[in-house]
This record gives sequence, C-alpha cells and structure tokens, in this order.
Amino acid sequence: MSNLAYERLHHNLQTMKLATIDSILDNFLEIAAKEGKSTIEILDYLIDQEMKNKEAKSLAMRTKLAGFPYQKGLDDFDFKFQPSLDKSVIRELTGLRFVRNSENVVFLGPPGVGKTHLAIALGLEAVRSGFRVHFTNAAILMERLVNADKQDRLEEKIKGLSKFQLLIVDEIGYLPFTVEGAHAFFQLVSRFYEARSVVY
Ligand SMILES: Nc1ncnc2c1ncn2[C@@H]1O[C@H](COP(=O)(O)OP(=O)(O)OP(=O)(O)O)[C@@H](O)[C@H]1O
Ligand SMILES: [Mg+2]
Repeated sequence: MSNLAYERLHHNLQTMKLATIDSILDNFLEIAAKEGKSTIEILDYLIDQEMKNKEAKSLAMRTKLAGFPYQKGLDDFDFKFQPSLDKSVIRELTGLRFVRNSENVVFLGPPGVGKTHLAIALGLEAVRSGFRVHFTNAAILMERLVNADKQDRLEEKIKGLSKFQLLIVDEIGYLPFTVEGAHAFFQLVSRFYEARSVVY
C-alpha cells in the first residue's frame, strides 16, 4: 500500500467514525496476509468487529440513560411467591409488543410485591432490544414537569421525554396530585397516548 493510500485510509476511517477498524486494521491485515484470508473474509471480519463494538457502546449508553435504580431481570423474579400473577401475561409483555404498539402497562398491588422489579425487568428487556428507555420516579417526574410548566418550558420537557420509546413511571400510586401537577402530568400523558409506551 502506498503511503498516501495508507494515510488517507486511516484518515477516512476516523472521519467516518469507524474507530474499531481504524485501530485493528494494521495488525489484522498482517495476520490475514499470513493466513491467506480472502478479501471477503477480511472485510467481513473488520466490519463485524466495528458493528459489535458500536452495538456494545450503544447498549451501554442506553442502559445509562435508562437510569434504572437497580438491575433485576425476569430471571430474578420468583413467580412462586406471586401466584396471583399470570406468568403468561408477563412473558407476553417481555416480547415487547406493547412498546412497538405504543401501549401502556400498569402494575397494581400492595407494597413489596415486585411492581418496581417487574417494571425494571421490562425496561431492561427493552433496552437490550434496542429501545430507548427511561426510568423515573413519579414524584420526581411530577416536580420536574411542574417546574418546567412554571418556566413555560413544559413543551420542551415533554419533547425531551419523547425521545424515549418507553417511559417507566414508578410509584405513581403513592403520589398525591396537586392541581398544577395534574395539569402538567395530563399534558405528558395526552402527548404520549398512542405515540409512546408508559409503564406505571
Ligand atoms: N416474586 C419475587 N421474586 C423475587 N424478588 C422479588 C419478588 N417480589 C419482590 N421481590 C424483591 O423484593 C423487593 C421489593 O420489590 P419491589 O420494590 O419490586 O416491590 P414494589 O411492589 O415496587 O413495592 P413498593 O410498592 O413498595 O414500591 C425487590 O428487591 C424485589 O426484587
Ligand atoms: Mg416499587
């Protein structure tokens, strides 16, 4: 490879943000030459590595943005302790059709029965499937919405939340609604209706 082509190649890889290929290319080409790999094999390997790294980064970023208070999945949930819960309904929910269809899910029940755990489990499943998810506590969300409304920025706040395909609003059952709170919250709910999914 001429020096010019070599430098342009690395420069272009950086410009196109193909950082993985950029970093493994030289070493891999040497190995590939020794092993007599075909052009297709070389291209396939390099692009596959780039894809895998990009996916891992994106998953890590989505997990961070989701803001789960802890990470517990469905595998950690013991259905024997909750016989009133229909396992097949939860299994159906983990298929995430409700997210694709912008439908809502409500977990109702007394304290300590696993509502938050199940909401997080669904959220984790959605993050792993590539959806943008955000977990929030109802009191914190309400306060933020009311404050945004006072500053005439409710629209902006709702737009910001709309970037998530699934919003998890935990502990809404424990929240006393003020008039301003109800107004601000209604704006969010009506904007999300049939456009985004909410788990309560
Ligand atoms: N069936 C279960 N199997 C495994 N762990 C469970 C189960 N039910 C609850 N837990 C665990 O018990 C703890 C309390 O559950 P969780 O916080 O989900 O309850 P909750 O219904 O959200 O309660 P609250 O109404 O007080 O918020 C969590 O650590 C959760 O992982
Ligand atoms: Mg809870």
